[in-house]
Amino acid sequence: MIEKKSITFLYRTYKKHWPLLLLALFGSILESASMAGLAYLIKDVVDDVFVEKSYEKLIVITSVLIGIAVGKQVGFFLKNYLYPVVIYRALREMRAKIYNRILRAKPSVYRKETSGDIISRATTDVERFGEISSTIGTNIITETFTVIGIIGVLLYRDWKMFMIFAFTVPVLAFALQYFGEKRKKYSKRLQESFSQYIQHLNQIVSGIEVVKLFHEKVFFRYFNRINSDLFKRQKKNRFYETVYLSSVEIVAYIATAGIIFYGGIRIIKGEITAGDFFSFLGGVLILVNSLQTLQRGAINLKALTPVVERIKYVLNLPVEDDKGKDFKGLKESIRYKNVTVKIGESVLLKNINLKIKKGEKLGIVGATGSGKSTLVKILPALITEYTGEVLIDNVELRGYSVFSLREKVGMVSQEVFIFNDTLRNNLLIAKPDATDEELIQALKKAKADFVFRLENGLDTVLGEKGSRLSGGERQRISIARIFLKNPDIIIFDEATSALDVETEEYIMEEIGKYFKDKTALIITHRLKLLEITDRIVVMENGKIIEEGTKEELIKKKGVFYRFSVISSS
Ligand SMILES: Nc1ncnc2c1ncn2[C@@H]1O[C@H](COP(=O)(O)OP(=O)(O)O)[C@@H](O)[C@H]1O
Ligand SMILES: [Mg+2]
Repeated sequence: MIEKKSITFLYRTYKKHWPLLLLALFGSILESASMAGLAYLIKDVVDDVFVEKSYEKLIVITSVLIGIAVGKQVGFFLKNYLYPVVIYRALREMRAKIYNRILRAKPSVYRKETSGDIISRATTDVERFGEISSTIGTNIITETFTVIGIIGVLLYRDWKMFMIFAFTVPVLAFALQYFGEKRKKYSKRLQESFSQYIQHLNQIVSGIEVVKLFHEKVFFRYFNRINSDLFKRQKKNRFYETVYLSSVEIVAYIATAGIIFYGGIRIIKGEITAGDFFSFLGGVLILVNSLQTLQRGAINLKALTPVVERIKYVLNLPVEDDKGKDFKGLKESIRYKNVTVKIGESVLLKNINLKIKKGEKLGIVGATGSGKSTLVKILPALITEYTGEVLIDNVELRGYSVFSLREKVGMVSQEVFIFNDTLRNNLLIAKPDATDEELIQALKKAKADFVFRLENGLDTVLGEKGSRLSGGERQRISIARIFLKNPDIIIFDEATSALDVETEEYIMEEIGKYFKDKTALIITHRLKLLEITDRIVVMENGKIIEEGTKEELIKKKGVFYRFSVISSS
């Protein structure tokens, strides 16, 4: 029923926690043994105390019963607490491993997978794995022991009656299976409806300003459908749940009636005592309960293999390795030789040939989608799916260690990454050992004056997605980071698009001063910024179609000329 791969995975996940697991297992056994002991003892209660009316035995039996109750509770505590603790520990390790993979995965992974899928594997599937593991420990293992113990007691009390009971088990199992599946199906549908509901609310809330400016009628219509689906599925789910429970009870009543009937005959004939009978009946009740729990666990277990597969996928995401030469900074030049980038069916760059000398400031212009970002993202190895060669000081880029390249290549782009932590930590990602003074200097150069008005200064938490900052403010933080990082090769990918012209010019001047001797690639739509460049390439459809200084390109009256006329008008 469970595949071998999944068992191997379970084993690998939990093996190092074996001492605690052993203790939890002891808890399971203790609890099961107490249940069996209870069923066993009923006979003595009935025959010795009720029938014989002995005070002495009443005291003994009551003491034993208390002992059993204590044993059961100790067992329950060990099993109910320790299995989950082991699971939580293992999940903590698993989450850490996955986080590591997510951070270090090859960038190409994120072009193939949706972020939603990766996230749900790392969250929902990991949680689900924990739940299933918990079911295995607290339900399946424990109840299996109970079933074995109780069957022992039943056989010992009256094996003939046990045979009769054993015949009803398949019927019970069938009813449980049939209605259990139905119930499961509808509960899954209910889950789907519910997550649709959550998803929609999420979308509405996060986009509320846009939502408010459009017709709400459409939203209401969409929502009403989700809402009434949710209602219908809740109702249906409840129906099958009730049918399931009552079918289980019906079968249990029939079995009980059979036992009472046959057991009654045997008592009347004097073949068994009343104590045997009640002990048996008590055992059966415990057994039915255990079988039910086992069967629910078995249903859960079916989800194990798919969940394990989904988790294994993120645990095995291909990661970037750090082999190769240490890149210590550009000495001569960067050269693109016949570079073509094809991702899936789309060709992002076609046969690019370009040489950038150390210290050069290269401007890159072109329409949206012409391949500008793709061209520059090759340098920090964010795009590795290229053919041709990218030579950095005559060594192919792939020959350098990825991390040393990223140490020396800095990039500021339109998308600014701000995480839900303090301003200080948001800056320290660029230079972990920077002093507060350095942080403040960098912020000043980036003209991020607004941060000095924040209530807690560098300790202000910037909020999820940096939501308390405007686009321009976010960009200035990203520029401050580049001053801190002080890279050898600097890429500006429309890095100042959200700034006003005045701030932009100020920052560009600072950049010009600060990075005077550095190599820079500047992608921009603003003519003014191109003034600090030595040379400009114009891109179209993944190709370089014009190249030269600003003056040369204007004289040429080609694509750049038309572009510059539009931009400056
Ligand atoms: N992961 C991807 N898969 C397929 N096509 C992509 C991918 N990323 C970008 N593109 C496409 O490649 C083209 C170039 O993109 P990009 O380099 O970002 O252009 P630019 O920066 O000049 O606006 C665009 O048409 C874009 O839609
Ligand atoms: Mg771009």
